[in-house]
Amino acid sequence: MQKNKSIVLGITGGIAAYKAAELVRLLVKNNIDVQVVMTEAACQFITPITMQALSGKPVYTGMWDASIPNGMPHIELSRLADAIVIAPASADFIAKLVHGRADDLLSTLCLARDCALLVAPAMNKQMWENPATQRNIAQLKTDSIAILGPDSGEQACGEIGLGRMLEAEDLLTLIKAHFQPKLLQGKKVLITAGATLEMIDPVRAITNLSSGKMGIAIAQAAYEMGAEVTLIHGKVDAPLPKSTRNISAPSADAMYETVMCNVADQDVFIGVAAVADYTPAQKSGHKIKKSEQALSIQLNRTKDILADVASLPNAPFCVGFAAETDHLLTYAEQKRIAKKLPLIVANTATEAMGSDENEVTLLDKNGAHPLERAQKFAIAQEILRHVALSSSD
Ligand code: C5P
Repeated sequence: MQKNKSIVLGITGGIAAYKAAELVRLLVKNNIDVQVVMTEAACQFITPITMQALSGKPVYTGMWDASIPNGMPHIELSRLADAIVIAPASADFIAKLVHGRADDLLSTLCLARDCALLVAPAMNKQMWENPATQRNIAQLKTDSIAILGPDSGEQACGEIGLGRMLEAEDLLTLIKAHFQPKLLQGKKVLITAGATLEMIDPVRAITNLSSGKMGIAIAQAAYEMGAEVTLIHGKVDAPLPKSTRNISAPSADAMYETVMCNVADQDVFIGVAAVADYTPAQKSGHKIKKSEQALSIQLNRTKDILADVASLPNAPFCVGFAAETDHLLTYAEQKRIAKKLPLIVANTATEAMGSDENEVTLLDKNGAHPLERAQKFAIAQEILRHVALSSSD
């Protein structure tokens, strides 16, 4: 089993320090080992006791802590960590990092580290916009330090603008992404997800039970593996990832057009959406009145997005999904051949749709590769590992 990741969470003086408490809770819940180090100013905003209770470990606040066995906390703590995360990072602490100052435990740890450093700025918008801060941020980026955020919105001082620290959930996503192997670094990945909605009249539509969860999981996992992700989605029942480019395309026709407009420079195309096979020939502009008579609606075939993308002259590496209720592997393989796909993911329609888990088999030119039943995110990671290997053949 993979070893749990270990981080030093550095908290500096700012009101956003209260969000660090929630971040510690989430990190621990996600099996990330957290050693909290606080500056003196941070202790004015939130107590080390709170952080100790949440992280389950003593919190370090000073250079001269006798409990560190070799008496050299700046070496000891930074060597044990896979990354140092500073959240919140005040304007003053950012300036210190730029100059390589080492006048307290946290800044000394940062200078002595041999691991990645991730910094989540938190400050008033004027402080953030100040050319001095902007110069400092540019310098940290040049020094290969990752800058997480900041966010924009209402600030503790009452002003509105850029400078708020990212929410704990968002920081967790970025920290987890940092630890993923960058198997898709530099790749552009286009994904369709969700159900399409084929309007009959302004209030009625034909749709299906797809939740979009599998496509969203693949989009998030691809982003974490370093890809630049575009997610074209129909109706979905799960939150969209924040770090991907998301485009809404409610109907099969709209999804077709949107995919074709965005596919040109893509390396990988993954069609996860449950695209309607039929759409009403006439879409009434007004609500159809009910009567005692039966109502017939003529349905026309929609265009097959995946098959058309796979037939393009410079087609990206194309992955399809086959949701079947019977003869799963036979039908899926037939579909793979008919649509000219290097890879198709076969799953049982009734089990996959709407659920948080899935059990799939990957089919490619080398045969069938069954994956164990797992959460959709874990399945997404497996599919993408397979894509990363196969698309570089
Ligand atoms: O043929 P079938 O609809 O079962 O194929 C499913 C696969 O094809 C999925 O990957 C789905 O996203 C894609 N598809 C598509 N356009 C359609 C129908 C299906 O891209 N009109």
